[in-house]
Amino acid sequence: MTKLAIMGAMEEEITPLLEYFTDIKKNNYANNTYYECRLGDLDVVIAYSKIGKVFSTLTASTMIQKFGCDTLLFSGVAGGINPQLKIGDLIVANKLSQHDLDITAFGHPYGYVPGGSVYVNTDQKLKDIALEVAKESDIKIIEGIIATGDQFVANEKRKEFIESTFQADALEMEGASVAVVCDALNVPCLILRAISDTADMDAGFNFDEFLESSAKNSASFLMKVIERIK
Ligand code: ADE
Repeated sequence: MTKLAIMGAMEEEITPLLEYFTDIKKNNYANNTYYECRLGDLDVVIAYSKIGKVFSTLTASTMIQKFGCDTLLFSGVAGGINPQLKIGDLIVANKLSQHDLDITAFGHPYGYVPGGSVYVNTDQKLKDIALEVAKESDIKIIEGIIATGDQFVANEKRKEFIESTFQADALEMEGASVAVVCDALNVPCLILRAISDTADMDAGFNFDEFLESSAKNSASFLMKVIERIK
């Protein structure tokens, strides 16, 4: 690894990460701010993309193609689907899907377009390191499927559809798009999330209450993973 990308979607998701770094150089590009810094011998670029698949695709592509990052780690929050996931708990994605991608009218499965695939995988090695670090530190983490879409889900019916269609354990708004970029450009990626809500009718309220604390859980665990891989 020569240059590490660390991404979130919202400012609240990267603020707790930036606190671990000093000598940060701000670089404005494509309507966003990229924070260039170092961790020991390692060059690091940190950014939040703004919410959703389009902005996260732009940021992931920029970090790889303009800034030359060759490993990408994502930290943030998600809505829990798997009942084992309580607010604050961590999930690392083994694969991700776009739950709002729908050309079923042409006989294709949800999440599929020709030339793509319903699921995109993440890097096995990075995920194994995350699971190992959690085990050693006695931190609860679940390895599972994350479904991504341009919707804040606060509705049991939509949540059930996403669970039954994609066997998803959690849902959010950026992971699959970032993983698609990384897969296409051969950059290993890790998608880590901490639960902020359970995507039900209380989701909006819970999200506001737990965004900051769950984002911090995800960020502090990610820093432990980075210590191991750097
Ligand atoms: N991220 C965190 N909670 C979410 C939810 N309920 N829907 C979409 N993205 C989320």
